[in-house]
Amino acid sequence: MTDTSLHGISRTSADADLLSVLGRRSIVLVGMMGAGKSSVGRRLGTRLGLPFVDADTEIEAAAGMTIPEIFERHGEPAFRSGEARVIERLLDAGPQVLATGGGAFMNASTRAAVRDKAVSLWLKAEFDVLMRRIKRRSDRPMLKTADPAATLQRLMAERDPFYAEADLIVESRDVPHMTVVEEIVSQLQAHLKCGEYKP
Ligand code: S3P
Repeated sequence: MTDTSLHGISRTSADADLLSVLGRRSIVLVGMMGAGKSSVGRRLGTRLGLPFVDADTEIEAAAGMTIPEIFERHGEPAFRSGEARVIERLLDAGPQVLATGGGAFMNASTRAAVRDKAVSLWLKAEFDVLMRRIKRRSDRPMLKTADPAATLQRLMAERDPFYAEADLIVESRDVPHMTVVEEIVSQLQAHLKCGEYKP
């Protein structure tokens, strides 16, 4: 069955078009901890028939330890350089949906590599939404501070200008994940100019 709601193009052919225009590029999700990069990214991968890769999981596999352990034993700078190396390597394995850790897009070389080899998308969420979600997990080294809410606020202020460099922005909020996924697909189709007449 096809859905002809998208500018008169059947959704299935628009999907095929999206994948063909995307080529070897990855779809890279950036944004704060708690924005839903992994849960939305996994569903986006399934929706588009692309593999989903979580950079944090790959970093842990490469290091043979968890992210909290990397921070504890080697410190944040070591984590950041490992993170940049792993993402650079992963970007050569597209097409895929790649979720990156909240700090990854602060690195200028990572941003340049993403610009070159991917379409980037900022999964943007309000402070309150992030705070509520972040409270569910206690293993994030960046928030192990005396005042996690103030830390989150500071990180958002520092990082938002860099996230804003992403090609696309989609709001992550308390709606079903698939609603956000469909918004991403529509934005990708528009960005990649899918379904346009190409003589
Ligand atoms: C970090 C976010 C984490 C992880 C690490 C550092 C950050 O990933 O990479 O704990 O600096 O924001 P998520 O954004 O997937 O939680």
